[in-house]
Amino acid sequence: MIDDKTAEEFATYMEKYNDLYEYLASVIQKHTSSSHPVILDLGLGPGLLSVEIFLKMPQATIIGIDPLIKMLQLAKGNVKNADYQTFEPIIGISENIPLKNSSVDVIASRFSLPYWTQPNKSFKEMARILKPGGKVIFEALNRDFPTWKLLLIKIRMLFNRAGQDVTKYHIDAYKLAHTIEQVEQFFTNAGFTIIEKEGKKNEWRFIIVAEKK
Ligand SMILES: C[S@@+](CC[C@H](N)C(=O)[O-])C[C@H]1O[C@@H](n2cnc3c(N)ncnc32)[C@H](O)[C@@H]1O
Repeated sequence: MIDDKTAEEFATYMEKYNDLYEYLASVIQKHTSSSHPVILDLGLGPGLLSVEIFLKMPQATIIGIDPLIKMLQLAKGNVKNADYQTFEPIIGISENIPLKNSSVDVIASRFSLPYWTQPNKSFKEMARILKPGGKVIFEALNRDFPTWKLLLIKIRMLFNRAGQDVTKYHIDAYKLAHTIEQVEQFFTNAGFTIIEKEGKKNEWRFIIVAEKK
């Protein structure tokens, strides 16, 4: 877990990379069929993905789950600035999602997996709360990303004033990250069908879209 100051600095730094959230929101929109979808942003962080989802789908209800109160506060601020009503930030963890069975149309999760202590349990939880035919749009850091390229990212982050703590937070996440094959296995173990994959073997990140049968 990070402290409040690092959470704030992370939010400030990531605001510069809006295009990453905007792109993921477009993938989420492509896989959302309901006109008034219930979308879970799992590992919400400062809510920057939720803001972009609302911009594309203003009729959505977004539930944001994160274990850190500071992240929930930052998300409330960011989504409130966007002036939307149907946003529910809730404290919780992926291993024990505080939502009812078959209550969610789409789950979005970005770069939260390295911190999940029991991934198989978390993926089963995602299957439990999704409606039949519901989708997961899952973006993850790639464990196969070469170490020497990670060094370049570290230098670039420091150069772009991410600060020592945010840079460490990001670089350390790669040590806990998973490969594409591992994430596919988590989905398969939990009974999902994988319907789309984006990202090559040793790119910095990948996206997997999976469906609950
Ligand atoms: C690197 S941040 C990513 C935040 C956001 N998804 C984004 O892309 O800006 C990872 C987030 O996962 C949250 N997290 C950590 N452990 C978690 C868990 N077990 N379940 C859900 N979220 C968790 C952290 O508090 C943090 O906000």
